[in-house]
Amino acid sequence: MSGAERADSDSDTDRREREPMSVLIQNGRIVTAVDDYFADIIIEGETITRIGRDLGVTADEIIDAKGKLVFPGGIDPHTHMDMPFGGTTSADDFESGTIAAAHGGTTTIIDFAIQTKGESTLSALDTWHAKAEGKATIDYGFHMIVTDMPDSRLPEMARLRDAGITSYKLFMAYPGVLYVDDGTLYRAFRQAGEDGTRICMHAENGIVIDEIVKAAVRDKKLAPRWHAHTRPTRMEAEGVHRAIAIAEVANVPLYIVHLSCSDALEEVKRGRARGVDVVAETCPQYLFLDDSYYDKEGFEGAKYVMTPALREKWNQDALWQGLRFRYLETIATDHCPFCFKEQKELGKDDFSKIPNGAPGVENRMALIYHGGVGQGRISLNRFVELTSTAAAKAFGLFPKKGTIAVGSDADLVIFDPERRETISASNAVTHHMKVDYSTYEGFEVKGYPETVLSRGRVIVRDTKLETRGGGQFIKRAGHGELLR
Ligand code: URP
Ligand code: ZN
Ligand code: ZN
Repeated sequence: MSGAERADSDSDTDRREREPMSVLIQNGRIVTAVDDYFADIIIEGETITRIGRDLGVTADEIIDAKGKLVFPGGIDPHTHMDMPFGGTTSADDFESGTIAAAHGGTTTIIDFAIQTKGESTLSALDTWHAKAEGKATIDYGFHMIVTDMPDSRLPEMARLRDAGITSYKLFMAYPGVLYVDDGTLYRAFRQAGEDGTRICMHAENGIVIDEIVKAAVRDKKLAPRWHAHTRPTRMEAEGVHRAIAIAEVANVPLYIVHLSCSDALEEVKRGRARGVDVVAETCPQYLFLDDSYYDKEGFEGAKYVMTPALREKWNQDALWQGLRFRYLETIATDHCPFCFKEQKELGKDDFSKIPNGAPGVENRMALIYHGGVGQGRISLNRFVELTSTAAAKAFGLFPKKGTIAVGSDADLVIFDPERRETISASNAVTHHMKVDYSTYEGFEVKGYPETVLSRGRVIVRDTKLETRGGGQFIKRAGHGELLR
């Protein structure tokens, strides 16, 4: 940032040893999910301590945010760092993935710990703590992916809640891998509801989809485009319908992940209309890309093999409408990167062997600002709500995260609404993910995060990494509770 200054002297060094570092962000336009005003922000240590005009104070560091928007740090509640999947492991670990997230204006991720069948969920949590600890540059939490939940294991769920894991993900998709049957769904849903926690659902009828996939492979329909042809939107809608019905009976708050299409959205609308506590997330890939990407030259379509698949373009309007009218509550990335070379190539001769997932953690804020606010689809406040506040509220991070307020963590993004970038794997500003392609190659955006603070530390300054590491695990609060 051109206006950033440092006030440095020997006496300052002595003082810093006694007092927490202070930062003053001046002249910015502060935007939260509900507010929009000009004011200065004082940060002491990790926390916002004052907000106001003409505060008449100085600080160890002064950042001039004139002409910039100041947002709460982005929260991406759906990432997969260092995830074993599809015969390989996602290309970003917690080090590279959180650095990329930081560059994109995201200061908290919620990733997924995975219980393997027969394993204790508590030991799965230990495994994921070991993957992230000491590596992350931004703060992180975990959802627990449950693959096995007999009655005897149900008491583990209260222990997970006490350890700050207050949400679960279960899969109707991927039979033989992450899939669980309806009985397991119901048991886990009931217990999660009793414990005051939330269920996240990958809602697609994987059993039927597997039959369609098998038939396609048998018929030698093996190119990447068959990934989309074999995953009909109706099978996602059926999954959403079933998840909502089970959550309704089990009395648990439900969160549908990566909702991709109008058919599925209609089921969310129906559930909400009858009073079920269900919210849904969509992702930039479903708002900006469509199934024509599978028809790219050669094997290029493999870059877009993700689940759910990209849909016919007309679905995008329905999703934007859903965001605007609050049927969709959050925008996450489902960041699950696999390199085109060697990883996506595992499915060169058979689309069903292509590892499912795509990169995006770095691009979310700029894409949604550009396509949402810039193109008049959503307001600035709604932008903040969709990229930060709503996830904080849904997943027990609010008000420590997800807003700009006295007492909140100083997770802040200083965003230049005029800066233009072309997203590309070869653009050193937009690509820090450890993957050899960009899902949004060539997309031009207006508006970009320039300087990013995580609990008061400048981690990205003027689009360049300034601080590596220091991210902490966040023990999240339960459903409806505030995080202090
Ligand atoms: O294709 C995807 N989405 N890969 C990640 C796993 C999942 O289903 O979220
Ligand atoms: Zn999923
Ligand atoms: Zn996912």
